[in-house]
Amino acid sequence: MKKVYFLLTIAALGINVHGQKTVDQKVAELLSKMTLEEKVGQMVQYSGFEYATGPQQSNSAAVLEEIKKGKVGSMLNVAGADETRAFQKLAQQSRLKIPLLFGQDVIHGYRTTFPVNLGQAASWDLAMIEKSERIAATEASAYGIHWTFAPMVDIARDPRWGRVMEGSGEDTYLGTQIGLARIKGFQGKGLGSLDAVMACAKHFAAYGAAVGGRDYNSVDMSLRQLNETYLSPFKAAAEAGVATFMNSFNDINGIPATANQYIQRALLKGKWNYKGFVVSDWGSIGEMIPHGYSKDANEAAEKAILGGSDMDMESRVYMAELPKLVKEGKIDVRLVDDAAGRILTKKFEMGLFDDPYRFSNEKRQKEQTDNPENRKFGREFGSKSIVLLKNKGNILPLSKSVKTVALIGPFGKETVANHGFWSIAFKDDNQRIISQFDGIKNQLDKNSTLLYAKGCNVDDQDKSMFAEAVETAKKADVVIMTLGEGHDMSGEAKSRSNIGFSGVQEDLLKEIAKTGKPVVLMINAGRPLIFNWAADNIPAITYNWWLGTEAGNSIADVLFGAVNPGGKLPMSFPRTEGQIPIYYNHYNTGRPAKNNTDRNYVSAYIDLDNDPKFPFGYGLSYTDFKYSDMSLSSANLKGNQTLNISVTVSNTGKYDGEEVVQLYIRDLFGKVVRPVKELKGFRKVFIKKGESRKIDFNLTPEDLKFFDDDLNYDWESGEFDMMVGTNSQDVQTKRINWIK
Ligand code: BGC
Repeated sequence: MKKVYFLLTIAALGINVHGQKTVDQKVAELLSKMTLEEKVGQMVQYSGFEYATGPQQSNSAAVLEEIKKGKVGSMLNVAGADETRAFQKLAQQSRLKIPLLFGQDVIHGYRTTFPVNLGQAASWDLAMIEKSERIAATEASAYGIHWTFAPMVDIARDPRWGRVMEGSGEDTYLGTQIGLARIKGFQGKGLGSLDAVMACAKHFAAYGAAVGGRDYNSVDMSLRQLNETYLSPFKAAAEAGVATFMNSFNDINGIPATANQYIQRALLKGKWNYKGFVVSDWGSIGEMIPHGYSKDANEAAEKAILGGSDMDMESRVYMAELPKLVKEGKIDVRLVDDAAGRILTKKFEMGLFDDPYRFSNEKRQKEQTDNPENRKFGREFGSKSIVLLKNKGNILPLSKSVKTVALIGPFGKETVANHGFWSIAFKDDNQRIISQFDGIKNQLDKNSTLLYAKGCNVDDQDKSMFAEAVETAKKADVVIMTLGEGHDMSGEAKSRSNIGFSGVQEDLLKEIAKTGKPVVLMINAGRPLIFNWAADNIPAITYNWWLGTEAGNSIADVLFGAVNPGGKLPMSFPRTEGQIPIYYNHYNTGRPAKNNTDRNYVSAYIDLDNDPKFPFGYGLSYTDFKYSDMSLSSANLKGNQTLNISVTVSNTGKYDGEEVVQLYIRDLFGKVVRPVKELKGFRKVFIKKGESRKIDFNLTPEDLKFFDDDLNYDWESGEFDMMVGTNSQDVQTKRINWIK
């Protein structure tokens, strides 16, 4: 007993049993030495002078002076061993020598870029996603970066919103699992390891629900929906120990997220007991003035800190206003201590007080520049992200000895575009990116010929290159068309009201199809596009997203069959923009349509089928998978039992392949209505041709929980449908009864 008491006392003093101070103790000691300005300084983040993603008020000389005075806690967009070292040196000239934190958008890879995040999500491969972030963290940390502004765990049901490319799509369960895999990958063995970067769950919250899919727009929704659909991935991230959060530009039910006491104070730092810190989004504190929520910078600073924003990214409002607000007694200094303390805690955990230059290491940086192992992984990951949408007549895979292949379309010889939107570390050295043309050429037999014609530009009305493209197609045995959207057409501030092929791309496709040659269409995009004509008329279609540094090789691996595609769509693909938002886990309504074409006083459009063009979870393979023998351990369950659901999946086709087996449930009646389907599990399995595998899922009552109207999170007794299948539409169903 005495020993326990002794240990407790020691812990309370913040000293561990080995006589060393705990981080809390060190932070408290440091805070006690700091002036108010120095504390607020920790809460200030400026951008370096290269890659601004928003309006920048930067005056570089003044920023450098502020750092020397201890008035800056963090820089974003400062990277590279030499540059981070130079900035850190300035911080070491300050009175207390508190090191800077260097943040960066490491979103889908760093030096080696990987598929855009939505494409990664299409792999449904958590191990690969985690590994890609491990690599990204290793590369970024070798460039002196401490902190990435990722993962983005915003659920998004509106493909008009350009930032769907950064997330994991429309589903909360899938999005949560992927978010957790990313955090694990980034933070590796834990903060303080030389190859770990701090992760950041963003954008808190509901940024993906912007009205009309217009970036930065408002969000108005029930707290029930907010908690269940949009906040769940964030709660899981907090529980998993994500180092930081970033809030979002939007308002939620009239209160900007940046100052939202409900989500940041009551939930995140209250109920969820989160100990990391919250950075604002770029300029979002200052933007509360145009929002109409703060009349000036002074009020914006006051509301932001009261609302739980710890660090001011580029609003330049905290340093100007917070010391005044504290001196006038409007803000309790304990709020400043808490915010600065959270930031300092991370600096201690990262080991920066032991050695502020520990991440600025030229040797490591060199090793992680164009690292061949990382590229090898990138190639594999790229091929796993491709979704085969159609393969009529088994045109794919192509034989490598096809005599003449024509590659036609504006992306054939593109290099940089393959990077996708966030390619921060890219500095004009195109050589590192494998074009689609080169990837295909490298795999074609030596005696075969690869022809190329651009055909058109991505987004204008110029048809002058059509004739040459048609002539090129006529000379070929098979035509590979590469169409879609430019890498900068999806991403931040890239909302589109029309998500069809831009410019004259579809006209070009029609002209090429008229030649009668077999056509394989590859679609490059950061979001679901609408391409009904192509879907109905072109025999083979792959959805390639943007695949990163190794794009050309990944694409060729799939086209020629070295890799059998196994990706599945992480978002529903609409038939027209008029169907948006469209998502598989909708409610049934009081008048559900009986089928796709039922329009008889039901919840449907009179001029359109109900279902999407391609459903959530959809994707084909070069082989065939057959589902059979779905069975349940019991159809009647009680209390905390576990339900086992199993199904046999057989590979009945001609190739070995991977299948994503999906489990959905439906809670038939509830005190609030429940979705017609909810994903609750998936398994990605490799099955050799001719073989079968029994796949098991285990469910507990935890998986049945939902938020009711009073925001209680619980489950109810009743009937549930268990559904297993190859996508969200094509499932087998068995009903159970589960009582409390
Ligand atoms: C984006 C963030 C990003 C930040 C820093 C903002 O405009 O919304 O996601 O991390 O810029 O570049």
